[in-house]
Amino acid sequence: MTAPDKTRIYLVALLAWQALWLPVSPAAPPGGAAVDEEVSKQEAIYQSRGEDVPAGYVIDRSLLSYASFLPSGFDRSLANLGPTDRWLDIGAGQGLAILDYYTSRYDSMHPEGRARRGSKARAVAISIEDRRTPRWRETAARLEADQIRYLSGRRLREYSLEELGRFQLVTDFTGGFSYTRRLSLFMEKVLGLLEVNGSFYTLLLDVRPEAGTTQPIDPESLFLTEIENDDGSDVGVCSWLKSISCVKVACKPDTKSSRPIELYRIQKVCNDVAVPSLVTLHYRAGTPPQRRFSTKTPPPESR
Ligand SMILES: C[S@@+](CC[C@H](N)C(=O)[O-])C[C@H]1O[C@@H](n2cnc3c(N)ncnc32)[C@H](O)[C@@H]1O
Repeated sequence: MTAPDKTRIYLVALLAWQALWLPVSPAAPPGGAAVDEEVSKQEAIYQSRGEDVPAGYVIDRSLLSYASFLPSGFDRSLANLGPTDRWLDIGAGQGLAILDYYTSRYDSMHPEGRARRGSKARAVAISIEDRRTPRWRETAARLEADQIRYLSGRRLREYSLEELGRFQLVTDFTGGFSYTRRLSLFMEKVLGLLEVNGSFYTLLLDVRPEAGTTQPIDPESLFLTEIENDDGSDVGVCSWLKSISCVKVACKPDTKSSRPIELYRIQKVCNDVAVPSLVTLHYRAGTPPQRRFSTKTPPPESR
């Protein structure tokens, strides 16, 4: 591929990325009925089709977009997977990133490791709603049985380890990590599905980065994901992730955007994972939703 080609593809990816940015409006008050209303608005976003899909709900990012925006190790981690390895993409939308991986173009762009990759890793896409396209069905029919699987109709937390098995690589590009109301349960699930030494690559939009005092673009708005201590002070998503046992966490601000975005690589280093519980204080539907969590110990029934 020529340098102008690469620049053009990068710019297209950047534009798709910028399309994410819809202003976040001020917080809705917490409470039972208000939460139910936000949950059903969010469900309507998931189930939206055609022209009703909100502009900020991007469901067709390419693998190149994933590689451009996820932490830098992702591209190499994927290219190094062998035919007995497995990749899980949580919140896959149309599953384009997975489809791109099985093209000959992918191999020509990643000549190193080609022999080791062989027929490539198996991949599983998870999405709440079924957004499979004819291209997905054609690719699945051309590949070996079960080389790619698309699971829908449930959230990540509703799958068991027995159903999904373990993975060497997990990605989440504005999927469940950005949308879930149960962040600690979500992380427990992801880490339970990862093999030791496997990595989870993800990011959050509009979040207070570990090292910095960046403000959201709209001064009236809140950050999209916040975690507070018992005393109401900000914990920061990165610090909370680092409080999980048996993981090595790298957090990096995204320097390509003027909005506060943080990129995360979470590597599982041993099996005794313990994720500190979070209580959900606030949830407002959106693309992604606005969420506030607390590290207060939750009552057993809400965990
Ligand atoms: C904005 S789309 C992103 C799609 C894709 N990653 C992309 O970048 O094109 C959000 C995706 O996350 C999925 N999602 C949200 N919460 C989820 C959860 N808790 N478990 C599994 N999937 C979830 C949605 O169903 C949808 O497929």
